[in-house]
Amino acid sequence: TIVRLADYRPSDYLIDRVDLDVRLHPTETRVTATLALRPNPAGAPGAPLILDGDELTLLAIALDGQPTGPGAIEVTPRALTLHQPPQRPFVLEIETQVNPSANTKLMGLYRSNGVYCTQCEADGFRRITYFLDRPDVMAVYTTRIEGNREAAPVLLGNGNLVERGEAGPERHYAVWHDPHPKPAYLFALVGGRLGRVGSRFTTMEGRDVEIAVYVEPGKEGRADFALDAVARSMAWDERTFGRAYDLDVFNVVAVSDFNMGAMENKGLNIFNDKYVLASPDTATDADYANIEAIIAHEYFHNWSGNRVTCRDWFQLCLKEGLTVFRDQEFSSDERSRPVHRIAEVRTLRARQFPEDAGPLAHPVRPQAYREINNFYTATVYEKGAEIVRMLRTLLGPETFRGGMDRYFATCDGKAATVEDFLAAFAAESGRDLTAFSRWYEQAGTPTVAVSGTYDPAAQTYTLAFRQSLPVVATEAAAGAAPRPLVIPVALGLVAPEGGSVEAVSERVRDGVFVLETAEESLVFANVAAAPVPSLFRGFSAPVKVEHALTRDERLTLLAHDGDAFNRWQAAQSLAMEVLVDRAKAGAPLKPETGPAGAGLTRALATFLDDEALADPAFASLVLTLPGEQEVAQTIGAEVDPDAIWRARQSLRMQLGRDLGPRLLALRDALAEPPGAPFSPDAASAGRRALRNAALDLVTAADPEAGTALALAQLDAATTMTDRLAALATLSLVPGEAREEALARFGEAYRHEPLVLDKWFALQAMIPEAGTLARVRGLMNHPAFSLGNPNRVRSLVASFSLNNPTQFHRPDGAGYDLTAEVVLALDGKNPQVAARLLTAFNTWRMVESERRLRAEAALRRVADAPGLSPDVSDIAGRSLAPV
Ligand code: ARG
Ligand code: ZN
Repeated sequence: TIVRLADYRPSDYLIDRVDLDVRLHPTETRVTATLALRPNPAGAPGAPLILDGDELTLLAIALDGQPTGPGAIEVTPRALTLHQPPQRPFVLEIETQVNPSANTKLMGLYRSNGVYCTQCEADGFRRITYFLDRPDVMAVYTTRIEGNREAAPVLLGNGNLVERGEAGPERHYAVWHDPHPKPAYLFALVGGRLGRVGSRFTTMEGRDVEIAVYVEPGKEGRADFALDAVARSMAWDERTFGRAYDLDVFNVVAVSDFNMGAMENKGLNIFNDKYVLASPDTATDADYANIEAIIAHEYFHNWSGNRVTCRDWFQLCLKEGLTVFRDQEFSSDERSRPVHRIAEVRTLRARQFPEDAGPLAHPVRPQAYREINNFYTATVYEKGAEIVRMLRTLLGPETFRGGMDRYFATCDGKAATVEDFLAAFAAESGRDLTAFSRWYEQAGTPTVAVSGTYDPAAQTYTLAFRQSLPVVATEAAAGAAPRPLVIPVALGLVAPEGGSVEAVSERVRDGVFVLETAEESLVFANVAAAPVPSLFRGFSAPVKVEHALTRDERLTLLAHDGDAFNRWQAAQSLAMEVLVDRAKAGAPLKPETGPAGAGLTRALATFLDDEALADPAFASLVLTLPGEQEVAQTIGAEVDPDAIWRARQSLRMQLGRDLGPRLLALRDALAEPPGAPFSPDAASAGRRALRNAALDLVTAADPEAGTALALAQLDAATTMTDRLAALATLSLVPGEAREEALARFGEAYRHEPLVLDKWFALQAMIPEAGTLARVRGLMNHPAFSLGNPNRVRSLVASFSLNNPTQFHRPDGAGYDLTAEVVLALDGKNPQVAARLLTAFNTWRMVESERRLRAEAALRRVADAPGLSPDVSDIAGRSLAPV
């Protein structure tokens, strides 16, 4: 069945209070739910009450304390219908039984490593009890959790702990009360044997909050960084948005089987342990950065998501886009703003642009869905965050902050919509945001073409802009033609020899020009010489830019632009030009020597000499070439992934050769002083990043010398970052040294699943024909399991989503492996299976022979009997005719 935004109706009944009594048992957990219901004044009077369920067994039911009469109710595992509910407040008491050990979907109540935990977003609560499982039904929850004292000494729920005690010789219980009304998707409980680290935080309102992180016993030492990130997040949200925490307890629990990154349940965030556990020996700098960002993300949801929640799942971006924006701002403030911005844009281009250009494209606020869990996408999250960022650019930081305050004030305690959000900013700014709101409705990445003309006689410089919007099949079918978007263009003019040109145009305010129609021109007066335009500074809009800058103009921007993002962008576009040319020519693998490549190397040499040591993190990004997928997107059709790989590899060889001595010198200059204490801070991480980028390029040019350096680094490394970087470098050089190093690493960390995940991923991404067999072999590794999402993602998804040459093997074997795993997984965990299947997103873009094989594999999945709605939805949309 398809759910449509246009069909939204308020619920016919509301639930004000929920009392849950959960008796934990590995296979027969019993749940008694006492629901205080009443007819919704906004609903249909006398309508039947239909409670959602999923794989539930009903044990007992009572209405206002009495057994229900014959025929009064109808029960299936998927729904409980009360035909003639009282038209006044009433109480339903429902007892159900569930089997947490058999719950391999990891939705509802399940066990991970022996720990009982829950995941209810989007629709998992109905797998615990019959309920109005929709976000606009908000209730106050009291939860009694009872469990075995040995197996579950820790019992956690939402809100504050109000009572605990004994329940017979072997059992005990805890009662948690959450005073804040919430939708069922924010419900959570945990029961298990867990280690704890804790601290306190006093809010700006003077509330003393106990914060704690729970992890597998023995791993407490790896939880300190996450604990500290919680406190920093709390302080930041007070400082930046005036938002304080609102309960006496804030708990984070790490579990090892989790479908996504983490979940913002009220007062009880549950995390994939990958995003909690960190130690210098087991976590990379990237892990530390992710942990900090995701801890912040989930904490920030307490306001953007929990206090103000979503009316329906079409509004998902209301909480996710906004919260991603907030976590990005947090990371930018805690780390380096330009460096973080570049990282954000790289993710957007690598994940969201392809999604927006393929068969799974959808608006940030979709109009319809079959399976909501398939809409937790880069578009909803990342493009959703870009929309909020554009709003801030358009309104300016003060008005934006005022709008946020107004949004929280007017929507607090409500289940809101995108319209409510925009209304707050419209009221605050006095502006009409109707045209801006199209960003939420239209799928596809816009392209903005820009051309500049200098008139020496008039001393004017004119920039002509033209926006064009792709026609997205799913929307064209609905009869909608795309309409122009409101596009903020942050810009400046750079003098050819450096320095900014102080030109004026009345259309530019605070460095921002707003493109509102299909075509517009912008004239700058009093321009003494032809400038170089620096456009979309800081990536001010999620668009593709086409502008006819010459190579020299790009080199000027790389050297002189005042905007760090655009300096990086200049280097990227110079490299992209070379990569696309070479890939299209299908050139053989040899160091690029054409003038384009040479100009780039010279510019990079100057850049490294002048600035690398001042900002190593930025320098490492400038040295990193656009990824294969980004090149594929730029080429757009009839893509040959092998040609792209060769193009990229040859440019890496050239950079490594021409910059070699400099790179080696940098590596030495940035060496960790012996005995230096480890710090995961951005500056230290930046030094490691540049050192390892240097090693990578040097090895591309001279595999033998690079191997020796990498082996030495592998032995001497004191951090997982350096060890893994060395191993990654080695993994690209076929031969015995690689195999030995891989074997040793696998052995050394055989008891560390999260480290083995890195080892799986690295091997799955080797761009060689032997990788397919390697991956199949590793699927039999004792540490691998199809039941654990992290293992599947690190081994199989790394292959299917991050190894373009091997996923797209010309013989189709990469597609076959992916399809095979999707089908094997679907019966166990449809959400993870569906996510893996999105690897086929680019199938229409590849050259015809591969395309046919990809389509055949997709069809095999689509035609398999008994598919989950999750996988069948992705397969169906992927194959839909364009
Ligand atoms: N709300 C969570 C987050 O972004 C994501 C949970 C999604 N889970 C799911 N099964 N779809 O922070
Ligand atoms: Zn989120």
